[in-house]
Amino acid sequence: MNPSMTADLAELDVSDLSLWKDGPPHEVFRELRNQDLHFSALGDFPRETGFWSVVTYEDIAAVGRDHETFSSERSILVVDSLAAEPGDPDPLDISAHMLITQDPPRHDRLKALVQHAFTPKTSLDHADRIREIINLVYDKALEEHPDGRIDLVRDVGFFVPSMVIGDMLGVPREDAEQLVDWTNRTSAFEDPRLVPDLAELWRAFEEFFPYVDNMLREREKNPTDDLTTAFIEAEVDGERLSHQEVLMFFFLLMVAGNDSTRAVFTSGMKSLMDDPEQMELVRSGAVPLEQVVEEFVRYHPAFAYMRRTATRDVELSGAEVKAGDKLALWYVSGNRDEKAFDNPDYFDVRRDPNPHQGFGGGGRHFCLGAGLARLELKLWIEETLKRFDSFEPDGECERLSSTFLNQWYSMPVKLG
Ligand code: HEM
Repeated sequence: MNPSMTADLAELDVSDLSLWKDGPPHEVFRELRNQDLHFSALGDFPRETGFWSVVTYEDIAAVGRDHETFSSERSILVVDSLAAEPGDPDPLDISAHMLITQDPPRHDRLKALVQHAFTPKTSLDHADRIREIINLVYDKALEEHPDGRIDLVRDVGFFVPSMVIGDMLGVPREDAEQLVDWTNRTSAFEDPRLVPDLAELWRAFEEFFPYVDNMLREREKNPTDDLTTAFIEAEVDGERLSHQEVLMFFFLLMVAGNDSTRAVFTSGMKSLMDDPEQMELVRSGAVPLEQVVEEFVRYHPAFAYMRRTATRDVELSGAEVKAGDKLALWYVSGNRDEKAFDNPDYFDVRRDPNPHQGFGGGGRHFCLGAGLARLELKLWIEETLKRFDSFEPDGECERLSSTFLNQWYSMPVKLG
């Protein structure tokens, strides 16, 4: 870190997008881990209050586990509103009904209703379909690009996770592209290439919800063996999910299952391409794929942070956090904390144990889809390396512009 940056740290806005143009600002986080809790103004959102940055492994785990002091209600983002103008419809009024934005006891009731569908064992039931989807997506990409020069994000990454979760939810495969478009337009709110203005977020909701609503009504009349029907029929203590709750589950799973797994897969593959020794360790089978997946998720957590809100005044790492203050739990920093990992900036598939925070720092909101994601990533790496003897970079990659979604916008590769 250069000296002027150190001097400016107090004034720094960690959410300033210019810091993120080449990916998470790891140098900044390294500095922040060695000082009292840092507060940033939210420069790009002048109507909003700022936020504290929780950056050490230990603090992230402590905050994540204390849901009474650090609430998940309202928003997982550091903003409280994504309305285009004050008084306009606000997408966060809707997403405030998701599982991830609830506190116990309501959170626990909702999670219990769906947890059984996402155990590692249940995920295994989908292994054959996942392999089939991966190969279908590569078939299509190669049909469109017979020379093997594809964009790993846009031709492959977009489709595998959305078809996997779509299949589980009972969405026809031909609708995958449409769902990818909706989920991109509801989550990439900092990237003008996907969301030219905030009103676009609301337009995407307006298209997405009638689609899901139709599907729910159809399943209510004609139940099938898909997850959507299971949500409609799920019961805990005699209670069922409301129509609105099922709808929000559907939305959360599409977004959480989509953005995340493609981000980790594409970024992890890039790390392998950038380091032939690591690629060889994976190709040769010297390291179990389960272990490779953990390093993918540690080194490239799909969500840079999740937000909490303090429910009472509390002291944390030298700061007086007040009731109502926002805190960003920076998983991108916890996963590089030198107190938790040896040589944390080195991508090493041999790392074991690897107690990373890529699926959250523990606590009630720990990723519901971790079992599915781990399996999906393992099969995706396996099928990819089995199918292609060579897998190489083929031009400049571009980052998605975001402080929340840690992912690439475009990644040209040559398959052979
Ligand atoms: C590699 C892929 C994935 C990563 C890195 C990831 C990461 C995360 C993280 C960081 C959280 C928040 C944890 C917290 O706040 O404590 C989360 C929550 C969640 N994830 Fe994932 N996720 C992935 C894949 C998936 C998949 C495939 C699904 C489902 C289809 C999914 C569904 C969810 C849900 C529903 C929650 C909310 C859980 C709750 O609030 O209790 N995720 N995930």
